[in-house]
Parts: sequence; structure tokens; C-alpha cells
Amino acid sequence: MTTTVETTPTPRVTDQKVLVQVDDLKIHFPIRSGIFKTVKGTVKAVDGVSFDVRRGETLGLVGESGCGKSTIGRAMIRLREPTAGTVAFDGVDLGSLSSDALRKMRRRMQIIFQDPYGSLDPRMTVGSTVSEPIETHGLAAGQAKRDRVAELLTLVGLDPAYVNRYPHEFSGGQRQRIGVARALAVEPEFIVCDEPISALDVSIQAQVLNLLTDLRSRLGLTYLFVAHDLSVVKHISDRVAVMYLGKVVEIGPPDQLYAAPGHPYTRALLSAVPVPDPTAERKRKRVILQGDVPSPVNPPPGCRFHTRCWLYERLGQPEECRTVDPPLVAISGEHQAACHFAEESVKSDVGVAHMEERSIRHGTPTKALESLAGDAARGNGNQGDPLQTPGGAMEALAASLGAHLPSPGAPVADLGAPGSSAGVPGPDPEAPNVDPQPPAPGTRPS
Ligand SMILES: Nc1ncnc2c1ncn2[C@@H]1O[C@H](COP(=O)(O)OP(=O)(O)OP(=O)(O)O)[C@@H](O)[C@H]1O
Ligand code: SF4
Ligand SMILES: [Mg+2]
Repeated sequence: MTTTVETTPTPRVTDQKVLVQVDDLKIHFPIRSGIFKTVKGTVKAVDGVSFDVRRGETLGLVGESGCGKSTIGRAMIRLREPTAGTVAFDGVDLGSLSSDALRKMRRRMQIIFQDPYGSLDPRMTVGSTVSEPIETHGLAAGQAKRDRVAELLTLVGLDPAYVNRYPHEFSGGQRQRIGVARALAVEPEFIVCDEPISALDVSIQAQVLNLLTDLRSRLGLTYLFVAHDLSVVKHISDRVAVMYLGKVVEIGPPDQLYAAPGHPYTRALLSAVPVPDPTAERKRKRVILQGDVPSPVNPPPGCRFHTRCWLYERLGQPEECRTVDPPLVAISGEHQAACHFAEESVKSDVGVAHMEERSIRHGTPTKALESLAGDAARGNGNQGDPLQTPGGAMEALAASLGAHLPSPGAPVADLGAPGSSAGVPGPDPEAPNVDPQPPAPGTRPS
């Protein structure tokens, strides 16, 4: 019989610049059945997770469906009560706040949801949607409120003249912009972006991504950016955390995590990311994960990944993997992985493309472009290498999103509307799907 030995994680250093601190967070959902709703088990959606988000950074959070990303994101802004552990915002434990104090604190933290269709109330005009949080927090009234709504719509690239239109009159990308304007209405410091581009046409994904990254630098925001795959977060994150079955298994700066992953699961995820270089792609050693993700009701003992781990098989199924839950330990600097054989993983070449990624971009694509333009002006540019030129950076991002971007500096426009061909602009790409007769307030459009 195997027994699980819990080990003590490495103590974390408290950084003064930390805005959100997640400490040993657990969120378990009871499974009830029968007429008496007896608890039959628990879904361990998040099972002992600790990390920080620093002021002004974007922390990318990646993992397969059901691994607990959204549950963590919601708990970080106290939309979900933790079963155990704490979330501290700006040094204050959110669990210690009264409901009134929490309501005031909530103004500083917002969320942007994945589904731009479901997250907006179809009965509310754009103006009401964006002004509601302004009213709730008593930030402005009358003309000042209307001016603020117009300012917010302009900020997210929408025409303030659309203020009286309803969500169904807009494309997916435009609805997501309305969601962003609503989130920004209370001037938050921290935003959980829960897969904000996953539900959008690929032609629009990069534009919304650019909007978010641009807003981050203009307004000094801090993001938790949740995504399914590593390619999306690579170019916009200062650090990336990889989750598997309720745990963070690797965290670190993208240049280290993408070039030398310390966890076999990260390598498997990277294996699935297409590389915009056919030579590198041909040389790449891929690994395909076997089997389904185990149930979070009964996660495997020891290392949760051992039932699907290619390194465990390659090393001859070491007992330690089946019995000891590996803590996150430092590989180098800020790069940490939760694998007993992280050194073996780092040495391996599985999943990683052998291309010269000498300058993986930190921060925003815009920042990356600026720094690359600066390099070129100083004569440090590496012309000829598609990843070393400003256009190459955008093309690389576009390639990883499967989209074509407008040229840098071009006005942002959502090219696709529901039902239109992706990427093919209509007569007026910014115009919503005009319905000359918006439904009367209080009715739900079909
Ligand atoms: N309210 C709930 N009650 C019971 N189980 C839940 C609840 N919310 C989430 N879960 C379960 O918790 C686990 C984590 O869910 P979560 O939505 O956080 O995953 P995710 O990583 O965001 O997935 P996705 O990528 O599909 O959005 C899943 O097994 C899910 O079924
Ligand atoms: S601890 Fe073992 S099973 Fe887990 S990821 Fe590392 S090698 Fe694989
Ligand atoms: Mg989710």
C-alpha cells in the first residue's frame, strides 16, 4: 500500500511590492446526493496553492480545463470563500474584513470573464452596464457619471455614441471591450482576466490582448491572466504559473520557464504549442500526455502527475513519485518547480523548440516593440531573424494566436462580428451589428 508523505514547502520571501498574496489556499466543493443532500465526497478544486502577484505585473496562470484556474481567480477577489488558507490584498487578509470593508476593498479588484455573451446583462444598455459600478460605489452622478462612461468607452476603443445600445448589437470583441470598460469603471488596481480572449474569433483575440496589455501600462494595473495554453501568456506575462489538478506545479519568468521547464507537465504543454519556425518544429521532441486528467475528487497519491508523467516512466517509475507530494522548490532565481526530478526535466529537451529565443519579451507587446525598436536604433537589432525584429515580435505573437495583427500603430478595430467571416471587415468594422429597434428595457432580446 502506498502512503502519501506531505513535505514542507520552501518558505517564501515576502516582497514589499506584493499586491496579492495567496497562502496555502484550498477550495473544496462538497458533493451532495440523496434527498437529505448527504455529503458523499469533495472536489478538491484548489488544494494548497501559494504564490504572490506583485504590483504592476502580469502573472499568467495556465493549465488544462478543470485544474482550478477560475476557482483561484475568484477566490483572489473573494468571490469564492476559501476552505482553508488566506488571500491577502495589499497586506490585508480578505477573510478578516467585515462585509462593508470588503465591499470597499472590492473596488480595488475586478474580474473580466471569459464569455462576453453571458457576462453582460442583455437587458441593460452599454451605458447602464458601465455606469452601474460607478453608482454602486458612489463615484459620480448626473453629467459627471455620463462623462465618465463616455471616457471609459473611448478608453477601450468604443464609440461613446453607442451608449444606448444593447449587448446583442455588438460583436464578441466589442462586448469584451464593454466588459473591460465596466471593470475599469471603479479604477481598480488588480484585475483577474479569466480567459478573456478564449471565446473570441482568432482575428479579434490579438486585438483584445493588445488592448489589455496597453491598458495595463497606461493605468498601472496588475493582472492575473488566466489562459488554457502557454502561447497566449508567453508574450504578456512577467511570470507564468502552471497548474495541474488543483496545484501550482511550476512558476517563473517566461524566459526560464519556456526555455528550460523544470516540470514534465510544462514540457508536455509546450509540446502542444506550435512554433513559427519549421526547422525548429521539425527538430522538436514532442510528448503526448496519455489518459485523462484524474478526478479532483480522488487525486492520485504522491505526485498528482505520476499517472501521466513521461519522466516517471523514463526513470523506471521511482517510488518517491507515488508516495511523496513534491513541494515547489527553486531551480534558479525565481524559477520553481514541484518535481522530485526537476533537474532531469531541466536537462531534457522534450517539448522545447530549439530556436534562439534570446529575447523573449517581458511585459506588453507594445513594450516589446519599443525595446526592439530601441535595439535596432542602437544597432543591436538582429535583422533577418524573424523573432528579433519589431514586426517579427508581432508576427510571432500573431502566429502563436493563429491570427494576423494590424501593423503596429494601426487603429484597433474588431473586424469580426457574429456571423461575419473572421477577419473580413464589413463596411464599417467598428459599427455594431445594427438593430434599428433595440428591445425595450426590461425585455430579453432573442
Ligand atoms: N461550484 C462548484 N461546485 C462543485 N464543483 C465545482 C464548482 N466550481 C468548480 N468546480 C469544480 O472544480 C474544478 C475546478 O474548476 P475551475 O472552473 O476552477 O477550473 P478551470 O481550470 O477554470 O477550468 P476551465 O479551463 O474549463 O475554465 C472542476 O473539477 C470543477 O468541476
Ligand atoms: S515527481 Fe515524478 S511523477 Fe511527478 S512530475 Fe516529477 S518525475 Fe513526474
Ligand atoms: Mg475557468
